[in-house]
Amino acid sequence: MPQIPEKIHELTVGQLSARSGAAVSALHFYEAKGLISSRRTAGNQRRFSRDTLRRVAFIRAAQRVGIPLATIRSALAELPEERTPTREDWARLSEAWRSELDERITQLNRLRDHLTDCIGCGCLSLDTCVLSNPDDVFGERQAGSRLMAEGR
Ligand code: FES
Repeated sequence: MPQIPEKIHELTVGQLSARSGAAVSALHFYEAKGLISSRRTAGNQRRFSRDTLRRVAFIRAAQRVGIPLATIRSALAELPEERTPTREDWARLSEAWRSELDERITQLNRLRDHLTDCIGCGCLSLDTCVLSNPDDVFGERQAGSRLMAEGR
């Protein structure tokens, strides 16, 4: 991993990419989504403050565990004066996201268990296939298509 001398306080997008491991296109995407920001030089080149490295690490770690970008953006926006997340921020936010992850893992386990029933079936029935209609709230209340029931 390329080292950046301490005296350098701003990074080009290429340096930020090399140091953070995020593709340049991903960094542009994060910037377009308001997750990171840069200033422009007289030659219209992006320059990122050095602490953007930590911000990108935060974003990538959160993404790796499946946190949606919108949630990450909200979390970053709550930090005072858009400061870079500290160790304590990460500890607090990751704790809050843990229950969300647990719920998602439970859902995925349930879907995986039902997938066994679907292998070799192919019916994709709205009445009997849990994978094709996983949130069959209407099915619990009444039989048949939701649209047909509403049209009656
Ligand atoms: S595909 Fe037939 S039960 Fe899921």
